[in-house]
Amino acid sequence: MLNELEGKSIVVTGGGTGIGRATALACAAAGARVVVADVNLEAGRDTVSVISDRRGEAIFIRTDVSKEEQVESLVRDTLQAFGRLDGAFNNAGLSQTNLLLHELTAEQWHCIQSVNYDGVFFCMKHEIRAMLRSGKGSIVNVSSSLGRVAVPRAAEYCASKGGVLAMTKGAAVDYGAQGIRVNAVLPGITRTPMVESLAAQPQFAELLPRLEARHALGRLGSPEEIASAAVWLLSDASSFVTGAELAVDGGYLAM
Ligand SMILES: NC(=O)c1ccc[n+]([C@@H]2O[C@H](COP(=O)([O-])OP(=O)(O)OC[C@H]3O[C@@H](n4cnc5c(N)ncnc54)[C@H](O)[C@@H]3O)[C@@H](O)[C@H]2O)c1
Repeated sequence: MLNELEGKSIVVTGGGTGIGRATALACAAAGARVVVADVNLEAGRDTVSVISDRRGEAIFIRTDVSKEEQVESLVRDTLQAFGRLDGAFNNAGLSQTNLLLHELTAEQWHCIQSVNYDGVFFCMKHEIRAMLRSGKGSIVNVSSSLGRVAVPRAAEYCASKGGVLAMTKGAAVDYGAQGIRVNAVLPGITRTPMVESLAAQPQFAELLPRLEARHALGRLGSPEEIASAAVWLLSDASSFVTGAELAVDGGYLAM
């Protein structure tokens, strides 16, 4: 379907790189006016400039999702720029520390939770307030297959992503009657800067082939493949879908 997001105003957090960038580009290609929110100014602006080059409509709003006041202004500025908020892709996230749980400092624990978990809470809180005014909206939170199953040395990451799944269902139940749908995507391992930087560490030299073998399709995902699922969940084509955990993982969770 073409132009499935025509006229919709959509916020994409972590839209500077990886899955967020691919989703911002896909939303704009589907006709949405996109707000790219990222803590990384250069990357966020670059996404907007690519969208503009392709004759799409986008603005960049520098936002650290772990700071509630910044998320509040993100939503306020979005309403000012585009008049409404129809959809949100809450994707900004940090990867695991690769430490064991007993080695983690409280600071390292909170660092992950403040972005991956608190950040999704702050985003949903302010997005939902805006959507309640228009009586409609679609929120897509980015969890992970690691919100459902664990791998070694990622307990703090798994906890943050499992929390996102529970928060997604809670919000879906609370706001369904008001026309707001809330779903989660669970990407399998996806070739983004986050994964490439892990794989570049000497202790993970053998990582990529092993990771590929963990997927039924025998390969990692691309950011564009996650973006396609996000566009569908953000669009009216998924109008009866809420509270869902959509695994976009090449069969990772099926193995
Ligand atoms: N890549 C994977 O294999 C994979 C798998 C499952 C889930 N995920 C999840 O997908 C999401 C995107 O991951 P990615 O691989 O594209 O990562 P990435 O590192 O390529 O992109 C993350 C983006 O989030 C931004 N960001 C980080 N902290 C932020 C903050 N506090 N406020 C605003 N923006 C912030 C970064 O600047 C970056 O642009 C994350 O939530 C990640 O946990 C990724």
